[in-house]
Amino acid sequence: MLGIFRVIARRVASFRLVSPAVLLGLAAGLALAGLLTQAGGALRASPAQAEASSATLPGHTGVASCAGSTCHGRSVADGAVVRQDELLRWQEESSPSGAHSRAWRAVREPRGQAIIRRLGLDAAGVQRDCAGCHATPGAQRQSDGVDCEACHGRASGWLATHYTVGATHARNLAQGMTDLVNPRVKAQVCLDCHFSGDAKGQFIAHRIMAAGHPRLSFELDLFTTLQQHHDEDADYARRKGGKTNAMRMWAVGQAEAVKRSLELFSQPARAVDGIFPELTFFDCHSCHRRIHDGEAGGNVTAVPNPGRPVDPGTPPYNDENMIMLLAAARVVAPDAAAIFDTRARAFHRAMLVGRSETVAAAQALRQSADALSGRFAVASFTREQTFAIMETIASDAIGARFTDYGGAVQSVMAVDTLLGGMVNQGMVPAAAANGLRIQINEAYAAVRDPNGFQPMAFRRALEGAVRSIRSLR
Ligand code: HEC
Ligand code: HEC
Ligand code: HEC
Ligand code: HEC
Repeated sequence: MLGIFRVIARRVASFRLVSPAVLLGLAAGLALAGLLTQAGGALRASPAQAEASSATLPGHTGVASCAGSTCHGRSVADGAVVRQDELLRWQEESSPSGAHSRAWRAVREPRGQAIIRRLGLDAAGVQRDCAGCHATPGAQRQSDGVDCEACHGRASGWLATHYTVGATHARNLAQGMTDLVNPRVKAQVCLDCHFSGDAKGQFIAHRIMAAGHPRLSFELDLFTTLQQHHDEDADYARRKGGKTNAMRMWAVGQAEAVKRSLELFSQPARAVDGIFPELTFFDCHSCHRRIHDGEAGGNVTAVPNPGRPVDPGTPPYNDENMIMLLAAARVVAPDAAAIFDTRARAFHRAMLVGRSETVAAAQALRQSADALSGRFAVASFTREQTFAIMETIASDAIGARFTDYGGAVQSVMAVDTLLGGMVNQGMVPAAAANGLRIQINEAYAAVRDPNGFQPMAFRRALEGAVRSIRSLR
């Protein structure tokens, strides 16, 4: 079980968990139940995948420099300020919090090797096409996978001072630490690898998917929680100006994903592969669909989608994040929602006209998404608004746009994240929310098999989940 399926299996098992310790326990339980891919198994290193020393960037200090037993290398989380067992949690390969330390190994294991073989990559090809996401760009040791500095920033400017007397979050940032509290900054860090980036060999082309790579599906708040290795206690709230607002994280994550997609698509070198458009930008199942010759109703399995004014047979742009962003905007920034919607439709329609028209429409849409990201980053997301966003996602107007698998998966992750966020903010009692797990699991079950995805059945499952959530309102 890989990628999004693995994540779905995890979500089906339990609610948003606030404590990393609980998360670790959950991962262990799931592993026993056989739901998680077990780390381990023989490494099959071939010469092509032997560690290459990539160009080391100045300022990267390496995991060892964080790992001291008085620093982040403790075996118990008894630190006065931060847990200090972060290294152990990053290394725990059987849990999602340990996924990053095994990222380079994944390239060397049989599935990674099979992808590399199908693409015919030599060592340089692996560096070019895989290392940007499965290792830390600029690190000395690729075998450390995605290391601390891949997210926290290169450490040389702050390593010696970030724990000393007088250290504050603001000072650390001034010395070059990455501001992962800022949802816009964090989204961009994660999206480089969990969507695609435009530098450092971080682009997941359709060729790589077609060679067997799991598809990438990402939701900022859910994935942050899955790899969480910090506690949001009183000390954290004091240092960072409050606890994480999951609803804000979700909404900003959607806006930033829309921006990233449009930015990459607007680059001529990214958007075209030979004589074909780069297919990774489009909805996967629009092409990977069966043709039912001779059956009642003809060959048509596509369901009309009111948000995409394109002709039958045109590959639709993957708009999973646009749909979520629209739902959030309708509630939290209604004045901006209509223009975003108009621009999204214009973007889809421009595809029927030409490349330059499409790029112009992409730029306009990106601007709208950027403005929404800025507003969401400072919005508080009240209880009423959060309920309203969930209702909007399941409403007829938005629900009719889940004609494809990608959007459907986003909508279930959204409902799960938003409900979990309300629990964490004390807006909804945990016990009551847990009582709705069955309905949410039904919505997850409706997206478990991408090839058997049934839009109408999915909408019923999603509506059922939201109807039961309504009872908490
Ligand atoms: C844009 C960044 C990106 C690029 C480029 C990339 N990957 Fe990945 N890869 C990921 C992410 C992110 C995941 C995890 C997906 C998830 O679980 O959501 C992943 C998962 C995998 C997995 C499954 C790992 C597991 O533990 O199940 C393998 C194998 C893999 N990648 C191999 C490769 C190879 C080989 C290449 C180069 C041809 C490559 N990847 C290029 C980002 C990337
Ligand atoms: C995939 C990205 C990623 C990686 C890899 C990663 N972290 Fe983190 N880390 C985060 C995020 C996101 C947070 C939460 C930041 C926040 O909300 O202030 C965090 C929080 C922390 C905190 C708590 C900060 C605080 O102010 O309470 C510490 C300490 C920490 N990480 C250390 C490490 C160490 C050490 C490693 C490597 C062994 C590591 N991290 C690897 C993303 C990452
Ligand atoms: C330098 C690239 C890179 C960055 C930056 C990065 N990741 Fe990852 N992440 C990966 C790769 C590659 C994998 C898959 C590793 C594997 O399964 O072997 C992964 C796996 C994960 C997983 C486990 C998913 C699963 O299927 O079990 C989570 C959760 C995750 N990342 C969250 C985050 C978050 C949150 C951020 C931003 C704070 C982030 N990542 C930043 C490359 C990256
Ligand atoms: C515009 C049409 C189109 C879109 C959109 C598209 N693909 Fe493909 N895909 C193809 C074609 C054409 C092939 C090659 C089929 C062949 O070799 O027989 C292919 C091959 C594949 C294969 C290999 C299948 C096999 O059995 O060999 C995979 C896996 C794949 N695509 C995944 C994806 C994913 C994931 C997405 C979405 C990110 C996607 N595709 C989007 C047209 C598309």
